[in-house]
Amino acid sequence: MRPLQLTLAIFKPDVSAQPHIVREIQKILLTNGFYFVKSKDLYLPRKKAEEFYKEHEGRFFHNRLVSFMSSGGISAHILARDNAIQEWRKLMGPTKVFQTVHSQPDSIRGQFGLTDTRNSTHGSDSMESARKEMKFFFPEFNVDHWYKEKEPFYRNGNVSYCEETGIHVEAETSASTMKQEMS
Ligand code: RTP
Ligand code: MG
Repeated sequence: MRPLQLTLAIFKPDVSAQPHIVREIQKILLTNGFYFVKSKDLYLPRKKAEEFYKEHEGRFFHNRLVSFMSSGGISAHILARDNAIQEWRKLMGPTKVFQTVHSQPDSIRGQFGLTDTRNSTHGSDSMESARKEMKFFFPEFNVDHWYKEKEPFYRNGNVSYCEETGIHVEAETSASTMKQEMS
């Protein structure tokens, strides 16, 4: 089996304001074989939103987009899976919700999207942008180190999902933590 791929997902402010939708999307990701490697709740100040969406500067929707992304809480997630980038974007569905509700009603945007701007989630669109975006939200996360030390645990399924933290932990780590707690 080839190495897993990492991607960056964001639950946008429309989703983050609705905890039951957050749980639904987490469930969809878990059912589809994604691992939560890192997760973070945060608020993106306007300047940071402008930086994140710099590639869209000058587009007609840019101002609307950065205003929306800094209008409330969001969460950022590093996800791992075989072919994660493409598979996460497939689950999200196409960008434009007003079309997606008809063309792909079962996708995340089809089910939960509100408008073409308030479209629930983000997903990196290439390996290059995934690296850049993971660094943007998780500067402390070392991708090369993860591939060297951690990736095989995930690929071989030696991790378990922790409901409390919403991320996967190495099965061994959770076992040794339990041992420590019991002793
Ligand atoms: P994302 O970056 O959020 O994963 O979405 P994407 O690749 O499918 O779409 P992209 O072209 O990168 O656009 C980024 C975000 O800008 C907003 N947008 N609004 N009103 C519009 O026509 C329009 N077009 C784009 C959406 O929030 C989109 O996700
Ligand atoms: Mg994009």
